[in-house]
Amino acid sequence: MPAALTECFQQGWADTTRKLEPLPGSAYAAKRRAALSARFPGERIVIPSGGLKTRSNDFEYLFRPHSAFIHLTAETGTSAVPDSVLVLEPTGTGHDITLFTRPRSPRDAGPNSTEFYRGRQHGEFWIGRRRTLAETADAFGLRAAPRDELERALAGRVPTRVLRGEDPLVDSLIPPAAEAEAELRTFLSELRLIKDEWEIAQLRAAVDSTVAGFRDVTRELRHAGGLARGERWIEGTFNRRARLDGYGLGFETIAAAGAHSCVLHWMRNDGPIRDGDILLLDAGVEADTFYTGDVTRVLPISGRFTDAQRKVYDLVYAAQSAGISALKPGARYGDFHDAATRVIAEGLESWGLRPGGDTLPHEPALFGRYTVCGSGHMLGLDCHDCGAARSETYMEGELQPGHVLTVEPGLYFQPDDLTVPEELRGIGMRIEDDFLITADGPVCLSAGLPRQADEVEAWMASLR
Ligand code: GLY
Ligand code: MN
Repeated sequence: MPAALTECFQQGWADTTRKLEPLPGSAYAAKRRAALSARFPGERIVIPSGGLKTRSNDFEYLFRPHSAFIHLTAETGTSAVPDSVLVLEPTGTGHDITLFTRPRSPRDAGPNSTEFYRGRQHGEFWIGRRRTLAETADAFGLRAAPRDELERALAGRVPTRVLRGEDPLVDSLIPPAAEAEAELRTFLSELRLIKDEWEIAQLRAAVDSTVAGFRDVTRELRHAGGLARGERWIEGTFNRRARLDGYGLGFETIAAAGAHSCVLHWMRNDGPIRDGDILLLDAGVEADTFYTGDVTRVLPISGRFTDAQRKVYDLVYAAQSAGISALKPGARYGDFHDAATRVIAEGLESWGLRPGGDTLPHEPALFGRYTVCGSGHMLGLDCHDCGAARSETYMEGELQPGHVLTVEPGLYFQPDDLTVPEELRGIGMRIEDDFLITADGPVCLSAGLPRQADEVEAWMASLR
């Protein structure tokens, strides 16, 4: 780099400072930080956003902050800054809160002065403008400081809890305390169990976009049918909607045609789309605020289910309907799964299926061979949200207004399963919708898609 060019880079730039409004979700994030502060008085709490993850050599995956960091800041997709760290410093009465983050790339002759045009990972000419520290403070309603000051801020003998495993520098500065850290992780997960009104609006938007993605895919089925890897066309069609409306995907799109529908997380998506087969599409748009939808539909590629497909679909539909009827505030969380499973067991029983063949005693639990997994999960910033919640608040807890969850029973008859009649082999069915629990009962957020088999066929015909 000729010295004259370095000097040239340092001059002649206009001031682009802006006055930012608070992020729409920031007032809600402040309440969550207050709850965190009240739970751990007198302790320093450190919540890193996490950093870039290498894809290969010198390219990284698109940045996505840790869900706990998002929940406590309301940061959004397009402006998130890798290696940011939220620090709650104990005071006599509560906590002083600072967001340590990367400021704008400086353009003067001081330290880090070449980053803006030479820094591949963080230089603004490479990845785009960041907020100034003042802009960060305005956007979040928080004190903002440069990440360079983090080490000094974390010095001193203050009892500290950290969300470990997200930021190597932070981890190296804070001695491990496994039990205290697990307690923090659990608290942060449980803090997300009840969604506030702003989160519900984000989830509604994410699910609406997810529904739009299913519509896009249905319109493209015929085109995908002519391609050797039609599942990829389906995946790409949904993913285009995800990037257009939101930040991306809540999880990799599952586009499973034919017998691939029997693989719960079929993400290889390298198969064809054949007339007479089904397409199981399980996908979710992640909004710019990182809340995600998670919906599954099974579409008959020809537009009409065969008799065998319809038989399996109708049973899963009945199971899902029974699960939905069990969604009531005050009900045990497990009730909807039990209700759906009971319908499936009775249905399979009436078909005379013997999953254990002649060697095992006949009992309904063996139908698990065909259902494989649970019938739903909490939904929010993570597709499988609140994963570190204790069993007494989640799996063994009660449904409450503000919970958002999926109901997604399924039946999977593997193509090589000798215990099922031949015409059912290679059929996998799952119907998945997203529900908000209210005092008056469940609200289906994904009601924009048809659920019942005739309605699915009519809807497909209307889109062709
Ligand atoms: N949609 C993927 C899952 O719930 O596992
Ligand atoms: Mn799901």
